[in-house]
Amino acid sequence: MRSMTDEGNAGERNNATRAVRTAGMHLPVLTEEVLSFFEPAPGFRCLDATLGLGGHSEALLRKARAAGVPDVQVLGIDRDAESLALAQIRLEDFSPAVHFRHNLFSECAGVLAGLGWEGADFVLADLGVSSLQLDCPERGFSMQADAPPDMRMDRSRGKSAADLINSLSTQDLRGIIRNCGEDPLAGRIAGAISAARDKGRIRSARDLAGVVAGAYPPGRRAAARRHPAVRTFQALRMTVNDEIDELRRFLRAATGLLRPGGRLLVIAFHSLEDRAVKHFFREQAAKCDYPRNVPDSACAREATLRILTAKPVRPGAAERAANRRAASARLRVAELPGA
Ligand SMILES: C[S@@+](CC[C@H](N)C(=O)[O-])C[C@H]1O[C@@H](n2cnc3c(N)ncnc32)[C@H](O)[C@@H]1O
Repeated sequence: MRSMTDEGNAGERNNATRAVRTAGMHLPVLTEEVLSFFEPAPGFRCLDATLGLGGHSEALLRKARAAGVPDVQVLGIDRDAESLALAQIRLEDFSPAVHFRHNLFSECAGVLAGLGWEGADFVLADLGVSSLQLDCPERGFSMQADAPPDMRMDRSRGKSAADLINSLSTQDLRGIIRNCGEDPLAGRIAGAISAARDKGRIRSARDLAGVVAGAYPPGRRAAARRHPAVRTFQALRMTVNDEIDELRRFLRAATGLLRPGGRLLVIAFHSLEDRAVKHFFREQAAKCDYPRNVPDSACAREATLRILTAKPVRPGAAERAANRRAASARLRVAELPGA
Protein backbone atom coordinates (compact mmCIF):
# COMPACT_ATOMS: atom_id res chain seq x y z
CA MET A 1 0.00 0.00 0.00
CA ARG A 2 1.57 3.28 -1.08
CA SER A 3 0.87 6.67 0.43
CA MET A 4 0.90 9.49 -2.11
CA THR A 5 2.16 11.84 0.55
CA ASP A 6 5.20 9.62 1.04
CA GLU A 7 5.78 9.26 -2.67
CA GLY A 8 5.41 12.87 -3.66
CA ASN A 9 8.47 14.73 -4.89
CA ALA A 10 9.01 18.25 -6.14
CA GLY A 11 9.07 17.34 -9.86
CA GLU A 12 5.86 15.39 -9.60
CA ARG A 13 4.19 18.24 -7.77
CA ASN A 14 5.26 20.77 -10.39
CA ASN A 15 3.80 18.60 -13.13
CA ALA A 16 0.67 18.17 -11.10
CA THR A 17 0.40 21.90 -10.47
CA ARG A 18 0.52 22.53 -14.21
CA ALA A 19 -1.96 19.81 -14.93
CA VAL A 20 -4.38 20.76 -12.17
CA ARG A 21 -5.15 23.97 -14.04
CA THR A 22 -6.91 21.78 -16.56
CA ALA A 23 -8.58 19.60 -13.92
CA GLY A 24 -11.79 21.56 -14.25
CA MET A 25 -12.30 19.69 -17.49
CA HIS A 26 -13.56 16.64 -15.60
CA LEU A 27 -17.04 17.56 -14.41
CA PRO A 28 -18.19 15.21 -11.69
CA VAL A 29 -21.51 13.63 -12.65
CA LEU A 30 -24.76 13.53 -10.67
CA THR A 31 -23.19 15.67 -7.94
CA GLU A 32 -26.45 17.09 -6.58
CA GLU A 33 -27.98 13.62 -6.53
CA VAL A 34 -24.95 12.22 -4.70
CA LEU A 35 -25.13 15.06 -2.17
CA SER A 36 -28.82 14.37 -1.55
CA PHE A 37 -27.78 11.02 -0.03
CA PHE A 38 -25.00 12.57 2.05
CA GLU A 39 -26.18 13.55 5.53
CA PRO A 40 -22.96 14.12 7.45
CA ALA A 41 -22.79 13.78 11.22
CA PRO A 42 -19.82 14.42 13.55
CA GLY A 43 -17.03 11.90 13.01
CA PHE A 44 -18.34 10.80 9.60
CA ARG A 45 -15.95 8.61 7.62
CA CYS A 46 -16.28 8.72 3.81
CA LEU A 47 -14.60 6.53 1.25
CA ASP A 48 -14.30 7.97 -2.24
CA ALA A 49 -13.24 4.76 -3.96
CA THR A 50 -12.63 6.44 -7.32
CA LEU A 51 -11.13 9.75 -6.29
CA GLY A 52 -10.20 10.79 -9.85
CA LEU A 53 -9.68 14.54 -9.81
CA GLY A 54 -11.49 14.88 -6.50
CA GLY A 55 -14.65 16.58 -7.77
CA HIS A 56 -17.09 14.49 -5.74
CA SER A 57 -14.89 14.56 -2.64
CA GLU A 58 -14.66 18.32 -2.83
CA ALA A 59 -18.45 18.57 -3.01
CA LEU A 60 -18.86 16.29 0.02
CA LEU A 61 -16.30 18.20 2.07
CA ARG A 62 -17.84 21.54 1.15
CA LYS A 63 -21.28 20.35 2.20
CA ALA A 64 -19.94 19.08 5.53
CA ARG A 65 -18.07 22.35 6.09
CA ALA A 66 -21.11 24.48 5.19
CA ALA A 67 -23.21 22.45 7.61
CA GLY A 68 -20.60 23.01 10.34
CA VAL A 69 -20.18 19.29 10.95
CA PRO A 70 -16.83 18.62 12.67
CA ASP A 71 -14.34 15.85 11.97
CA VAL A 72 -15.67 14.59 8.63
CA GLN A 73 -12.86 12.70 6.90
CA VAL A 74 -12.49 11.39 3.38
CA LEU A 75 -10.30 8.55 2.20
CA GLY A 76 -9.69 8.89 -1.54
CA ILE A 77 -8.50 5.83 -3.43
CA ASP A 78 -7.48 5.70 -7.07
CA ARG A 79 -5.45 3.23 -9.11
CA ASP A 80 -4.18 6.13 -11.24
CA ALA A 81 -1.23 7.89 -9.60
CA GLU A 82 -1.51 10.91 -11.91
CA SER A 83 -5.13 11.56 -10.91
CA LEU A 84 -4.21 11.23 -7.25
CA ALA A 85 -1.48 13.84 -7.56
CA LEU A 86 -3.97 16.27 -9.08
CA ALA A 87 -6.66 15.53 -6.53
CA GLN A 88 -4.17 16.17 -3.73
CA ILE A 89 -3.66 19.70 -5.01
CA ARG A 90 -7.35 20.31 -5.55
CA LEU A 91 -8.19 19.21 -2.01
CA GLU A 92 -5.30 20.98 -0.25
CA ASP A 93 -7.75 23.30 1.53
CA PHE A 94 -9.27 20.38 3.34
CA SER A 95 -6.01 18.91 4.62
CA PRO A 96 -5.67 16.99 6.99
CA ALA A 97 -9.23 15.68 6.60
CA VAL A 98 -8.39 13.88 3.35
CA HIS A 99 -6.24 10.78 2.98
CA PHE A 100 -4.91 9.69 -0.42
CA ARG A 101 -4.07 6.14 -1.37
CA HIS A 102 -2.83 4.59 -4.58
CA ASN A 103 -4.70 1.30 -4.56
CA LEU A 104 -7.35 -0.75 -6.27
CA PHE A 105 -10.77 -0.10 -4.79
CA SER A 106 -11.17 -3.82 -4.12
CA GLU A 107 -8.34 -3.36 -1.59
CA CYS A 108 -10.40 -0.85 0.40
CA ALA A 109 -10.77 -3.00 3.53
CA GLY A 110 -7.00 -3.17 4.03
CA VAL A 111 -6.60 0.54 3.29
CA LEU A 112 -9.24 1.46 5.87
CA ALA A 113 -7.67 -0.83 8.44
CA GLY A 114 -4.30 0.81 7.76
CA LEU A 115 -5.83 4.17 8.66
CA GLY A 116 -7.29 2.74 11.83
CA TRP A 117 -10.87 3.35 10.68
CA GLU A 118 -13.40 0.89 11.98
CA GLY A 119 -15.77 1.34 9.06
CA ALA A 120 -17.29 3.87 6.70
CA ASP A 121 -20.53 5.86 6.74
CA PHE A 122 -20.52 6.86 3.09
CA VAL A 123 -18.91 5.01 0.20
CA LEU A 124 -18.93 6.31 -3.36
CA ALA A 125 -17.69 4.70 -6.55
CA ASP A 126 -17.93 6.71 -9.77
CA LEU A 127 -16.86 4.03 -12.23
CA GLY A 128 -15.03 4.16 -15.50
CA VAL A 129 -12.39 6.53 -16.73
CA SER A 130 -11.92 10.23 -16.11
CA SER A 131 -11.65 12.92 -18.78
CA LEU A 132 -8.01 13.27 -17.75
CA GLN A 133 -7.40 9.68 -18.84
CA LEU A 134 -9.53 9.93 -21.98
CA ASP A 135 -8.06 13.21 -23.12
CA CYS A 136 -4.42 12.27 -22.64
CA PRO A 137 -3.39 10.93 -26.07
CA GLU A 138 -0.38 8.93 -24.90
CA ARG A 139 -2.62 6.84 -22.64
CA GLY A 140 -4.33 5.43 -25.73
CA PHE A 141 -7.92 5.41 -24.42
CA SER A 142 -9.25 7.63 -27.15
CA MET A 143 -10.04 6.44 -30.67
CA GLN A 144 -8.27 9.51 -32.05
CA ALA A 145 -5.03 8.91 -30.17
CA ASP A 146 -1.92 8.71 -32.29
CA ALA A 147 -0.26 6.49 -29.66
CA PRO A 148 -0.39 2.76 -28.92
CA PRO A 149 -3.67 1.68 -27.34
CA ASP A 150 -2.50 1.36 -23.72
CA MET A 151 -5.74 1.87 -21.74
CA ARG A 152 -4.30 0.92 -18.33
CA MET A 153 -5.64 3.12 -15.56
CA ASP A 154 -2.55 2.20 -13.55
CA ARG A 155 0.40 2.45 -15.88
CA SER A 156 2.73 0.89 -13.32
CA ARG A 157 1.36 -2.63 -13.73
CA GLY A 158 -0.45 -5.10 -15.96
CA LYS A 159 -0.77 -5.64 -19.69
CA SER A 160 -1.82 -2.86 -22.04
CA ALA A 161 -4.49 -3.17 -24.73
CA ALA A 162 -1.68 -3.22 -27.30
CA ASP A 163 -0.19 -6.25 -25.50
CA LEU A 164 -3.55 -8.01 -25.64
CA ILE A 165 -4.06 -7.23 -29.31
CA ASN A 166 -0.61 -8.60 -30.11
CA SER A 167 -0.86 -11.75 -28.02
CA LEU A 168 -4.46 -13.01 -28.02
CA SER A 169 -5.86 -15.52 -30.47
CA THR A 170 -8.62 -14.39 -32.82
CA GLN A 171 -11.03 -16.49 -30.81
CA ASP A 172 -10.10 -14.84 -27.51
CA LEU A 173 -10.36 -11.40 -29.07
CA ARG A 174 -13.82 -12.30 -30.35
CA GLY A 175 -14.85 -13.47 -26.86
CA ILE A 176 -13.72 -10.19 -25.30
CA ILE A 177 -15.45 -8.03 -27.91
CA ARG A 178 -18.63 -10.05 -27.64
CA ASN A 179 -18.77 -10.39 -23.85
CA CYS A 180 -17.45 -7.01 -22.73
CA GLY A 181 -18.41 -4.93 -25.77
CA GLU A 182 -21.66 -6.73 -26.61
CA ASP A 183 -20.90 -6.15 -30.29
CA PRO A 184 -22.81 -8.56 -32.55
CA LEU A 185 -20.05 -8.24 -35.16
CA ALA A 186 -17.40 -9.48 -32.73
CA GLY A 187 -16.27 -12.30 -35.04
CA ARG A 188 -15.69 -10.00 -38.03
CA ILE A 189 -13.94 -7.41 -35.89
CA ALA A 190 -11.64 -9.95 -34.23
CA GLY A 191 -10.76 -11.37 -37.67
CA ALA A 192 -9.96 -7.89 -39.00
CA ILE A 193 -7.84 -7.04 -35.97
CA SER A 194 -5.75 -10.21 -36.19
CA ALA A 195 -5.23 -9.79 -39.93
CA ALA A 196 -4.12 -6.17 -39.48
CA ARG A 197 -1.84 -6.86 -36.50
CA ASP A 198 -0.15 -9.73 -38.38
CA LYS A 199 0.75 -7.18 -41.06
CA GLY A 200 1.99 -4.71 -38.44
CA ARG A 201 -0.79 -2.24 -39.24
CA ILE A 202 -1.96 -1.44 -35.71
CA ARG A 203 0.51 1.06 -34.31
CA SER A 204 -1.91 3.46 -32.68
CA ALA A 205 -5.35 3.63 -31.11
CA ARG A 206 -6.43 5.52 -34.22
CA ASP A 207 -5.24 2.64 -36.45
CA LEU A 208 -7.21 0.23 -34.29
CA ALA A 209 -10.37 2.33 -34.59
CA GLY A 210 -9.93 2.39 -38.37
CA VAL A 211 -9.51 -1.40 -38.56
CA VAL A 212 -12.67 -1.95 -36.48
CA ALA A 213 -14.65 0.52 -38.58
CA GLY A 214 -13.44 -1.28 -41.70
CA ALA A 215 -14.83 -4.57 -40.38
CA TYR A 216 -18.35 -3.13 -40.42
CA PRO A 217 -20.36 -3.59 -43.61
CA PRO A 218 -20.72 -0.09 -45.15
CA GLY A 219 -24.50 0.00 -44.60
CA ARG A 220 -24.21 -0.72 -40.89
CA ARG A 221 -21.31 1.67 -40.57
CA ALA A 222 -23.35 4.48 -42.08
CA ALA A 223 -26.40 3.66 -39.94
CA ALA A 224 -24.47 3.44 -36.63
CA ARG A 225 -25.28 6.18 -34.10
CA ARG A 226 -21.81 5.97 -32.58
CA HIS A 227 -18.36 5.25 -33.99
CA PRO A 228 -18.27 1.52 -34.78
CA ALA A 229 -15.18 1.07 -32.59
CA VAL A 230 -16.75 2.37 -29.36
CA ARG A 231 -17.74 -1.07 -28.15
CA THR A 232 -14.42 -2.68 -29.06
CA PHE A 233 -12.53 0.05 -27.20
CA GLN A 234 -14.81 -0.43 -24.20
CA ALA A 235 -14.26 -4.19 -24.29
CA LEU A 236 -10.47 -3.86 -24.43
CA ARG A 237 -10.42 -1.24 -21.66
CA MET A 238 -12.61 -3.36 -19.42
CA THR A 239 -10.42 -6.40 -19.98
CA VAL A 240 -7.14 -4.55 -19.50
CA ASN A 241 -8.38 -3.15 -16.17
CA ASP A 242 -10.36 -6.25 -15.14
CA GLU A 243 -13.22 -3.85 -14.49
CA ILE A 244 -16.19 -6.13 -13.84
CA ASP A 245 -14.39 -8.53 -11.50
CA GLU A 246 -12.82 -5.56 -9.72
CA LEU A 247 -16.29 -4.06 -9.29
CA ARG A 248 -17.70 -7.31 -7.87
CA ARG A 249 -14.82 -7.61 -5.40
CA PHE A 250 -15.26 -3.96 -4.42
CA LEU A 251 -19.01 -4.28 -3.82
CA ARG A 252 -18.45 -7.15 -1.39
CA ALA A 253 -15.56 -5.43 0.38
CA ALA A 254 -17.37 -2.08 0.63
CA THR A 255 -20.55 -3.64 2.00
CA GLY A 256 -18.48 -5.29 4.70
CA LEU A 257 -17.10 -1.89 5.72
CA LEU A 258 -20.38 -0.02 6.14
CA ARG A 259 -21.30 1.09 9.63
CA PRO A 260 -25.00 0.88 10.58
CA GLY A 261 -26.86 3.45 8.46
CA GLY A 262 -23.86 3.66 6.14
CA ARG A 263 -24.56 4.20 2.45
CA LEU A 264 -23.01 2.73 -0.67
CA LEU A 265 -23.42 4.73 -3.89
CA VAL A 266 -22.31 3.50 -7.29
CA ILE A 267 -22.40 5.46 -10.55
CA ALA A 268 -22.18 3.20 -13.59
CA PHE A 269 -21.76 4.18 -17.23
CA HIS A 270 -22.69 1.08 -19.14
CA SER A 271 -25.07 -1.80 -18.84
CA LEU A 272 -22.56 -4.46 -17.77
CA GLU A 273 -21.46 -2.40 -14.77
CA ASP A 274 -24.97 -1.33 -13.90
CA ARG A 275 -26.23 -4.93 -14.11
CA ALA A 276 -23.49 -6.09 -11.74
CA VAL A 277 -24.48 -3.40 -9.22
CA LYS A 278 -28.21 -4.07 -9.58
CA HIS A 279 -27.78 -7.82 -9.06
CA PHE A 280 -25.46 -7.36 -6.13
CA PHE A 281 -27.83 -4.94 -4.38
CA ARG A 282 -30.82 -7.24 -5.00
CA GLU A 283 -28.97 -10.26 -3.71
CA GLN A 284 -27.92 -8.38 -0.56
CA ALA A 285 -31.40 -6.95 -0.03
CA ALA A 286 -33.13 -10.33 -0.38
CA LYS A 287 -34.21 -11.85 2.91
CA CYS A 288 -33.72 -15.30 1.57
CA ASP A 289 -31.88 -16.80 -1.34
CA TYR A 290 -33.70 -20.15 -1.10
CA PRO A 291 -35.96 -21.15 -4.01
CA ARG A 292 -39.39 -19.47 -4.12
CA ASN A 293 -41.27 -22.54 -2.82
CA VAL A 294 -39.30 -22.52 0.45
CA PRO A 295 -40.91 -20.15 3.01
CA ASP A 296 -38.83 -17.17 4.13
CA SER A 297 -39.24 -18.36 7.73
CA ALA A 298 -37.00 -21.34 6.88
CA CYS A 299 -34.18 -18.99 6.01
CA ALA A 300 -31.81 -17.92 8.72
CA ARG A 301 -30.30 -15.13 6.62
CA GLU A 302 -31.13 -11.44 7.20
CA ALA A 303 -31.05 -8.91 4.39
CA THR A 304 -27.72 -7.09 4.42
CA LEU A 305 -28.61 -3.97 2.44
CA ARG A 306 -31.70 -1.83 1.97
CA ILE A 307 -32.02 -0.44 -1.56
CA LEU A 308 -32.74 3.31 -1.56
CA THR A 309 -33.11 3.76 -5.34
CA ALA A 310 -35.86 1.51 -6.74
CA LYS A 311 -34.73 2.66 -10.18
CA PRO A 312 -31.33 4.08 -11.06
CA VAL A 313 -31.09 7.87 -10.77
CA ARG A 314 -30.32 9.48 -14.14
CA PRO A 315 -29.00 12.97 -14.84
CA GLY A 316 -31.50 15.66 -15.75
CA ALA A 317 -31.66 17.36 -19.13
CA ALA A 318 -29.54 20.32 -18.01
CA GLU A 319 -26.68 18.10 -16.84
CA ARG A 320 -26.86 15.98 -19.98
CA ALA A 321 -26.67 19.12 -22.10
CA ALA A 322 -23.71 20.50 -20.13
CA ASN A 323 -21.72 17.26 -19.88
CA ARG A 324 -21.80 14.69 -22.65
CA ARG A 325 -20.19 12.11 -20.40
CA ALA A 326 -23.14 12.29 -17.99
CA ALA A 327 -25.63 10.98 -20.56
CA SER A 328 -25.19 7.32 -19.70
CA ALA A 329 -24.65 7.73 -15.94
CA ARG A 330 -26.82 5.69 -13.57
CA LEU A 331 -26.64 6.03 -9.79
CA ARG A 332 -27.76 3.25 -7.45
CA VAL A 333 -27.73 3.58 -3.66
CA ALA A 334 -28.12 1.06 -0.85
CA GLU A 335 -27.82 1.37 2.93
CA LEU A 336 -26.81 -0.90 5.75
CA PRO A 337 -29.89 -0.87 8.01
CA GLY A 338 -29.68 -0.32 11.72
CA ALA A 339 -28.59 3.26 12.44
C1 LIG B 1 -14.93 8.68 -13.46
S1 LIG B 1 -13.41 8.88 -12.68
C2 LIG B 1 -13.84 9.55 -11.09
C3 LIG B 1 -14.00 11.02 -11.09
C4 LIG B 1 -14.20 11.61 -9.72
N1 LIG B 1 -15.43 11.16 -9.12
C5 LIG B 1 -14.16 13.12 -9.77
O1 LIG B 1 -15.14 13.77 -9.36
O2 LIG B 1 -13.16 13.68 -10.22
C6 LIG B 1 -13.03 7.25 -12.25
C7 LIG B 1 -11.71 7.09 -11.53
O3 LIG B 1 -11.73 5.81 -10.92
C8 LIG B 1 -10.47 5.23 -11.03
N2 LIG B 1 -10.69 3.79 -10.96
C9 LIG B 1 -11.37 3.04 -11.83
N3 LIG B 1 -11.36 1.75 -11.43
C10 LIG B 1 -10.66 1.71 -10.27
C11 LIG B 1 -10.31 0.66 -9.35
N4 LIG B 1 -10.64 -0.60 -9.58
N5 LIG B 1 -9.61 0.98 -8.25
C12 LIG B 1 -9.25 2.28 -8.02
N6 LIG B 1 -9.54 3.30 -8.85
C13 LIG B 1 -10.24 3.02 -9.97
C14 LIG B 1 -9.95 5.72 -12.36
O4 LIG B 1 -8.54 5.68 -12.39
C15 LIG B 1 -10.51 7.14 -12.42
O5 LIG B 1 -9.58 8.08 -11.95
